[in-house]
Amino acid sequence: MAIRVQIGSLRQRYRNLAGDRIYYAAPERFKNFHFDTFKIQHVVSNLLENAMKYAPRGGTVWMSLEAYSWDRRMQSRENIQEERRKSTCPGVRSARICVADTGPGIAGEHHLEIFDAFVRLPGEKEDAGSVGLGLHIARQLIEAHGGKIWVESELGYGSKFYFLIPVRDLMESENN
Ligand SMILES: Nc1ncnc2c1ncn2[C@@H]1O[C@H](COP(=O)(O)OP(=O)(O)OP(=O)(O)O)[C@@H](O)[C@H]1O
Ligand SMILES: [Mg+2]
Repeated sequence: MAIRVQIGSLRQRYRNLAGDRIYYAAPERFKNFHFDTFKIQHVVSNLLENAMKYAPRGGTVWMSLEAYSWDRRMQSRENIQEERRKSTCPGVRSARICVADTGPGIAGEHHLEIFDAFVRLPGEKEDAGSVGLGLHIARQLIEAHGGKIWVESELGYGSKFYFLIPVRDLMESENN
């Protein structure tokens, strides 16, 4: 299934479940490419569940899919200048997915640790169903897909979760 279709159907499913306002923007003709549907579905579902759980009722969730040129850092710093000179196309083609909410936001000092296992932020109420694993699993799935995931947020101004996955094996497809 094309990624824009898969994300669109998740949006529909969560809209039906929760009645929240979820908007979605994706280019009409995003190139079709091979990706692991299970992993991406799991991650987007986790992010949507968080957005709906932590944002007050009546909040808004924005999702987007866009093409992104990922200037990936090399693992080794040796020969980095030479590699850059040799490289004709430094940006890795990737898909960038964003799930943004109008919730309470997350202070900068927590932006990395929320992706660790069993981390819930101070003040979060006890909830039998919430153990602090959702984002940790999301990070593992995205890294296993060769991608990366992060949050941009400020207390009081909502949260934007982003992930990138490399677009390999580009295929022209009518079914996108
Ligand atoms: N959209 C969000 N807005 C504000 N805080 C968030 C948001 N998403 C995650 N957090 C914070 O990050 C913590 C970790 O999120 P994570 O999804 O890993 O765990 P959880 O939602 O608490 O539990 P689980 O996902 O295992 O049900 C949350 O407990 C919450 O404090
Ligand atoms: Mg969660």
